[in-house]
Amino acid sequence: MTDASTGSLANFWERKSTADLLREAARAEGDAATPLFRRSLSALQLVTLGIGGIIGAGIFVLTGHAAAANAGPAVTLSFMLGAVACALAGLCYAEMSSTVPICGSAYTYAYATLGELIAWIIGWDLILEYAVGAIAVSVGWSGYFVSFMRDFGLNLPSQFTSAPLAYDANTGAWSSTGAVINIPAMAVIVCITTLLVIGIRESARFTSFVVAVKLVVIALFLAAAASSVTLANWVTPSNPDGLLIPPNAGTGVYGWSGVVRGAAVVFFAYIGFDAISTAAQEAKRPERDMPIGILGSLVICAALYVAVGFVLTGIVPYDRLSVPDPIAVGIDAIGIGWLGPFIKLGILFGLTSVILIMLLAQPRIFRAMAHDGLLPQVAARIHPRFQTPYVSTIFSGTVAAVLAGLLPIGLVGELVSIGTLFAFMVVSIGTLVLRLRDPDLPRPFRAPAIWLVSPAAAATSLFLMLGLPLDTWIRLAVWLAVGLAIYAVYGRRHSRLRARDGV
Ligand code: ALA
Repeated sequence: MTDASTGSLANFWERKSTADLLREAARAEGDAATPLFRRSLSALQLVTLGIGGIIGAGIFVLTGHAAAANAGPAVTLSFMLGAVACALAGLCYAEMSSTVPICGSAYTYAYATLGELIAWIIGWDLILEYAVGAIAVSVGWSGYFVSFMRDFGLNLPSQFTSAPLAYDANTGAWSSTGAVINIPAMAVIVCITTLLVIGIRESARFTSFVVAVKLVVIALFLAAAASSVTLANWVTPSNPDGLLIPPNAGTGVYGWSGVVRGAAVVFFAYIGFDAISTAAQEAKRPERDMPIGILGSLVICAALYVAVGFVLTGIVPYDRLSVPDPIAVGIDAIGIGWLGPFIKLGILFGLTSVILIMLLAQPRIFRAMAHDGLLPQVAARIHPRFQTPYVSTIFSGTVAAVLAGLLPIGLVGELVSIGTLFAFMVVSIGTLVLRLRDPDLPRPFRAPAIWLVSPAAAATSLFLMLGLPLDTWIRLAVWLAVGLAIYAVYGRRHSRLRARDGV
């Protein structure tokens, strides 16, 4: 089933048939170059991968910033708002990943619903979420690593642990920092890439261990701090009658607009649940387990975030939380500073698994795009022994490692959020489009009230995008324009679908 039949413009809207996609999902690609992925992931492992990809810099770093600068103690409400937006999109992802369980995630769903051009745009856009996300988190990892080592008296030289380039968001100017290269950020990416090439099972096992550590750290923090929560910290000083929400001090600064702006900031904390849809071809029972993985990990993380938000703002006045390590500040505030190194170690583990999931997702998107002819065929190769997309994994890891060694973290964080929200919007719309176009397609998981959920998911994603600054929008536009140029030069000419249909 394709739409393309007339005129060159119409060809851009050509869709992959869902029948083709399902055949691809089921088929053993028997030639030596492209053997099957290994179906080894259970529902529990998918939930674990989800948590592994979600809990990271967002909760450990951004919570404090969002509380101090935007929402005050109501950062908890920001987390709830973010959870609603993600849950709506998550329902759409769950439906699509159980209906079309192949590794391209949002890219594949767009190909089946909105056509090749939009699919390309989303595939290109997802680089912002996964590869750029991995770079951002690895730079954060490096910062925590240096601090952790310092706790043990080992001072690593800053020339080799920070970016040589700095970017001033106000003036748009680049400058040199005097540093040479950020080696820890590069090293963590190289190690994770190696693990990902070796195998999905090994990666899932490692993630299970890491997830256990970071859950223990969060549970320790909550248990140690809960009894020290004082209501006075939730009643904002200049507004003694107002619980949680400080009085409005400008757009996005406290008041309800601050809660919304805070939600756009902490949205980063939820990114990652969608990444497990890229492992659909490696799930044992994708129809049943993908929705469990996506929605299960999202619910668990949302509950933890809300709990951390409540407890952290209950033990420390919110205006003292604008620091890179708000959880450590909370621990000091209640007099259990000795827990600090353990917490830092847990955070390092937490960030490691986020990088792993992002670097697991990126090559699978490249692989799906290459399989469709939109990227060079070599990127579709699966390793004959390890059964992983090793060429695209090594390529993604190498580029990410080089950039992680050079770039500052501030430049990339909001770009990751806007890229992800854009993908959420397209997947949400696509889910409804597929219901309309192919109503009888077997859907093991159906999002409830799709007429409500799909538009609401797209609208909340757009709403959060509008909360991000103009220069982030400009960067997104430039990135997509570069992507379109590459599509015009390469993808359009090599598309398998267009070649098959002679367009
Ligand atoms: N959700 C991931 C994090 O917070 C991206 O690090």
